[in-house]
This record gives sequence, C-alpha cells and structure tokens, in this order.
Amino acid sequence: MEKMILLNPGPVCTSDRVRSSLMKGDMCHRESEFSAILSNTRKKILQAFAPNGDYTTAIITGSGTASLEAGICSSVSDGKKILIINNGVYGERISRIASAYRFNKVELKYDWRERPDIKQIEDVILKDPDIEVVAMVHHETTTGLINPITDVGAITNKYGRTFFLDSVSGLGGEEIDLANDNVDICIGTANKCIQGLPGLSFVLLKRDEVKRLRNIPPRSLYLNVISQLDEQEQKGECPFTPSVHTFYAFEEALDELLEEGVRGRLNRYRKASTYLREEFKRLNLELLLPEGLLSNTITALYLPRNMTYAHLHDSLKERGFIIYAGQGQLNKTIFRIANMGELTMNDLDALIVNLQEVLEDK
Ligand SMILES: Cc1ncc(COP(=O)(O)O)c(C=O)c1O
Repeated sequence: MEKMILLNPGPVCTSDRVRSSLMKGDMCHRESEFSAILSNTRKKILQAFAPNGDYTTAIITGSGTASLEAGICSSVSDGKKILIINNGVYGERISRIASAYRFNKVELKYDWRERPDIKQIEDVILKDPDIEVVAMVHHETTTGLINPITDVGAITNKYGRTFFLDSVSGLGGEEIDLANDNVDICIGTANKCIQGLPGLSFVLLKRDEVKRLRNIPPRSLYLNVISQLDEQEQKGECPFTPSVHTFYAFEEALDELLEEGVRGRLNRYRKASTYLREEFKRLNLELLLPEGLLSNTITALYLPRNMTYAHLHDSLKERGFIIYAGQGQLNKTIFRIANMGELTMNDLDALIVNLQEVLEDK
C-alpha cells in the first residue's frame, strides 16, 4: 500500500522498527516468553510516565475506550458519585460510560473552546461529600485544548477525592507529572503519542488507589482493573487472550520513547506544531483556539470559506495526506491536523506545500 502521512490523532505513523517487531513470530500467551514481554512493557510504561511515583499499571487489550471504561467502572463505590468535567467529545464519552453503568453522576459542561471553571469545580466538590471520583480529559482531542490538570489535581487532593484523568491523547505529547498533579488514575493508549500500534491501552494507578478499588465489587468481567492488575502483577499473565503481536510493537515503541526521552518527544511535537501553526497563519487559516489553550499535537482550524471538508480531505488524500474532520457540533465548521507520530520536518513541509496548492485550487 502507498505510504500515507497520517495527520489524524491516532493511529499514527509508526517507525519501521515498530512495524517490523510484528515479525518476531508467534507466541503462546501462557508461556514465560510472553510474561517477560508483559513485565517489561509494564515496567517501561512506569519508567516513562511515573519514574518517581508510587504507581502501577495494567495493560488491557482493547482501544483507549476499553481502559477508560475499565477505569471508570472499577473506581466508583456503590452509592457514591462521579463528577465529570466535560468540555468536548471525550468528556462526553466519560459521561456516557458513567450512564451505561447507571452511576450517580454530576456533570459540569463547558464550551468546547474554553477551560473549565476551577472555582465552580471546587464549590461543587465542597458541597457534595458523595462525590468520590472527579473525572476529566487531559488533552481534549476534539479541539486540541489542554485542560488544567494541576489545578484540578490540587482540589481533589485538598478534599480527598480521586482524580481520574483520561490522558489517551496526552501521555508522551503533553506536560504531565502524575504524582505532582495528584492524578490517582490515568488512562493511556499505545497508538497515539507513544507511537505504537492500535489494540492496547493501559490504566496507571497510584498504589494507594489500588487499595480503595479492592473494596469495590467488580461490575465487568473483562474490564475490571483489579482483576487485570492482579493477574499481571502476581501471575505475570493477562486474564484473557492478549493481542500478543501488538505487545511486541508496544514494547518497541516504548523503547523508542525512552531513547528519545519523554521530554525529547514532547519538544519534537512542540516544534512541529509551532512550525505548522506559523504556516497555517501564513495561509490565512484561522485557528479555533487561542494560543494559551493549545496542545503540542493537535491544531483545529476553521474550514476556509467556500470549501467543504470532503473536498479538502479528498484532495489531500489524493496527494498522500490524511487530515481529520471536526466532531459533533464542530463537524461542519472545522478540520484538524495532528502532528503525533513518526513525522519528519520534510513531511510537514510537504503537507504545507500541498495544502497551499489545494487552497489555491492548483
Ligand atoms: C482523549 C481521548 N479519550 C479517549 C479516546 C478513545 O480512544 P479509542 O478510540 O482508542 O477507543 C480518544 C481517541 O481519540 C481520545 O482522544
């Protein structure tokens, strides 16, 4: 297949090294060889994202939503509530998961182009002792907005609540310090800023939080964090058949990340998005969000007047570039360009040249 430059926020372009790891051969997941891969992969996740913190992790075969659902359905005690801070499609997804489990939920909805109101969040938590878990998305992939994790973590810590963070599109690409930001449960995935392949995701948990979760009755057989964690930690196995080959690629991608350094990865992404945004402005494209709210990896842009998303997308696809549509209420007005993954500055230059030609109808 012809190589496409993927500018969608995952699955991303991966290196030859990550893709070739799939050829390691077939392996039984109940053998010591797989236990070694599982253990190393878990260690490398912790090395990358919680090097000093008292955290552990369970890897789940399934996309980011699987780990998100596992984390949510395993963390709210019977009779308690979850507060959901919702300013995009993925905040909305947390809310839908809470509804699917019939949890008592309190929802604070905000404009998709704005950060949540910290004072309001504190007031709601203060007034409602039944709120046990406060859930938020780190990087709202809908718009490319970075939510204020340090401020929310300070509040949950102050009032002794669990801070649940969806960092599916954040880990590896955005600033985060799990321990300092008081994050108790954090969800990540293999195929975005970690540059692995789709099919694996993970739950990072503070060790103290594991103790609390043990008292909550399992509500799912597959998506239970405690049973996944116990099998992985104690037996060195996954409870059900894991995506073995995707593990090869995940471990390789984590090696690449650790070699580049999480800081190095973040800087590379920041440099790429800064360059792209300068070029977008030069092409008279208007950004959805103001500078201060922007992530390192996604730029949401208003569609140019007189151009549909379908035309823009199809024209760029013919030239080898995949861009991404707006979601929900922004479906007709914006498009998104992500710079996650194995992309070179030459790839980005080529995108700009081609984008300019499409915009000028050449
Ligand atoms: C912030 C966030 N959360 C959750 C998800 C869901 O992940 P998946 O599509 O892998 O299930 C995504 C996917 O883009 C995301 O960006």
